[in-house]
Amino acid sequence: MKVKVWDIPVRLGHWLLAASYLGVFLTSRSERLLEFHTLFGYFVLAIAVLRIFWGFEAHGYSRFSQFVKGWKDVKVFLIKAIKLDLPRYLGHNPAVGWLIIYMLIASVVTALSGIVVYSGEENRGFFTGYFTYDAAVYARMVHEFFAYSMVGMVVVHISAALFHDFILRENIILSMLTGTKEDEHSYDDRISHLGAREGRHALRFAVFLLVTVLGGLSLIFLPPEGKSDIASLMSPRIRTSKGFLVHIKPSKAWQSECGMSCHDVLHPTLLPADSWRKIMGGLSNHFGEDAGLSEDLKKEILDYLTVSSAEHSTSEASMKILRSLSKGDVPLRVTIIPFWVEKHSDLTDADYKKPSIVSKSNCKACHPGANVGSFEDRDIEIPE
Ligand code: HEC
Repeated sequence: MKVKVWDIPVRLGHWLLAASYLGVFLTSRSERLLEFHTLFGYFVLAIAVLRIFWGFEAHGYSRFSQFVKGWKDVKVFLIKAIKLDLPRYLGHNPAVGWLIIYMLIASVVTALSGIVVYSGEENRGFFTGYFTYDAAVYARMVHEFFAYSMVGMVVVHISAALFHDFILRENIILSMLTGTKEDEHSYDDRISHLGAREGRHALRFAVFLLVTVLGGLSLIFLPPEGKSDIASLMSPRIRTSKGFLVHIKPSKAWQSECGMSCHDVLHPTLLPADSWRKIMGGLSNHFGEDAGLSEDLKKEILDYLTVSSAEHSTSEASMKILRSLSKGDVPLRVTIIPFWVEKHSDLTDADYKKPSIVSKSNCKACHPGANVGSFEDRDIEIPE
C-alpha cells in the first residue's frame, strides 16, 4: 500500500534547491556570470530558510523532530548499515537527518558569506558599502569551505539515492516527485531475491556512483572561464555622488588631449582623486614637459578623472590600489604604488626593455583591456 511521505513544500523545495545548486556551481567560475551566480545564491538562501521554518511547522515526515535523532540512534543505524542490515525508514533515516541539517545550515552560511564577498570585494549587491574588503577576504574562505563541503554532501546524497535505487530496489528519487512510498517495515522482501542475477544492478550502481563522484570532482575543479572579449569590455562601474552604480562615460576631452595627442592614457580608476588633482595642477611641468591646456579643458578633464577615480570605482584593482596606500600618500604614478610593485615583482627591467613593451607604463602591452580599466588575471599576456 502506498503512503504519503513527502508533502508538497518539501518536494518543491527539494527540486528548486537542487536546481539552484546546479545553477550556483555552473556559474561559479565566471566573472561575467557573477550576477547569475548571486541570483541563484539568493534562491538557495530563500529556499533553505523556508525549509528550516517548515521543519518546525510541518507535520509528519517533514518535521525536524520526526527525523533528527540523538547520537545513540545514529550509531545504531550506522552499525546496522555497515553490516548491510539496513532498517527501513519511511522518512529520513537518522544519519541522513543530520546530513539534511548540515546541508541546510551550510546553504545559509554559504549564501550569507557570499553576500559579504559580493559587497566587500566586488562592491555589488544589496549590501554594497556595508562590508569592508578585509571582511570579504575572511568571508571568501568561509564561502569556499562550505561551498566545497556542499559538493561533497551532494555527492554522498546522490550516492545514497542510487544505492536505494539499485541495491535496495526502492526508487526514492521518484518518491521525491510523487511524495509516496510503499508502506513496508524492512527491505527484506526487496533484497531477499538478490542473487547472482542481481550482480548487474551492483555493477550499474558502481557505474552511476563513479559518474556522481566524478561529477562532483569536476564541479570542484571546473576550470575558470577563458579570456575576455576585449572589444566588448566595458569600463568598471563607478559610484556616483547619489550612490548609483553607473558605467564610466569616457570623456572626449580626455581622450583627445591626453590619449590621442600624447600617450596611452592611464585609466582614471587606477589613481586616487588627490593624485589626479595634483597631476592636473602641475601640467606646466607634466613629467618634464609643458602640457598646458585651456582652463575649460583642464576642468572638464579633471572632473572626469575625479568622478572616475579609484575611490569611486568598483573594480578589484582600484580597491587593492587604495588599500595598499598609506594615509596621506598622493602617488603621481601607478607604478610606484605598493600593490602595483608587488604584483609586478616577478618582472625584470629586461622584460620592460623588450621592443614590444618599451616601458612599465605601457600597461596595454601585457593587459589588453588596460584602456578600459580591465586587468583580469586571465587576460594577461606578456609579449615576446
Ligand atoms: C610586462 C608586462 C606587464 C606590464 C607592462 C604591466 N603589467 Fe600589470 N601585471 C602583469 C602580470 C604578469 C601580472 C600578474 C601578476 C600576478 O598575478 O602575480 C600583472 C598584474 C596586474 C594587476 C593585478 C591584477 C589582478 O587581478 O590581480 C594590475 C591591477 C595591473 N597588473 C596593472 C597594471 C598597470 C596599471 C600597468 C601599467 C602602468 C601594468 N599593469 C603594466 C604584467 C604587466
